[in-house]
Amino acid sequence: MRRAIYPGSFDPVTNGHLDIIGRCCHLFDEIVVAVVVNPEKKPLFTVEERQSILRDALGGIETGTCRVSVDSFGGLLMKYAVEQKADAIVRGIRAISDYEYELQMALMNRRLEPRVETVFMMSAEAYSYVSSRLVKEVYQLGGSVRGLVPELVEARMSEKLGRTSHQ
Ligand code: PNS
Repeated sequence: MRRAIYPGSFDPVTNGHLDIIGRCCHLFDEIVVAVVVNPEKKPLFTVEERQSILRDALGGIETGTCRVSVDSFGGLLMKYAVEQKADAIVRGIRAISDYEYELQMALMNRRLEPRVETVFMMSAEAYSYVSSRLVKEVYQLGGSVRGLVPELVEARMSEKLGRTSHQ
């Protein structure tokens, strides 16, 4: 049984994240989507809300025989990975600009826990520019994010931000 952790902020989950999870399902038997608890950041959604949105959104993708669960973690990712008996950490890479930071993290994580590999995955080209940060910014400023996030995420952003009209 191969188990991977897909960690991140997921504030909120985008179709790019879901695309990565779908692709991971071909490689792993189990994927734990792990929302980071980071008290220093000011997220739009609480950790509990992000987990609940993720669970709902996962219902809309094809996972085959792969078991996908949602969890949260605080502190060191590698400590959590060992607790979870994970074989790998999955991170999505969109453009070369992501690579430098991701490489630093992957190498630091390898130093901390050499048995856990980091696997970089590329999402579909259609999502190569999509980030949670940009989705929130565009939505808050009245732009359309249709097709970039699941409809249920749009609905949750609408509840949170009080915006009801969608272009
Ligand atoms: O979605 P994000 O915000 O890019 O995810 C970043 C995340 C959660 C993967 C990273 O911040 C992380 O691993 N945080 C846990 C703390 C930790 O282990 N830090 C050392 C990383 S080398």
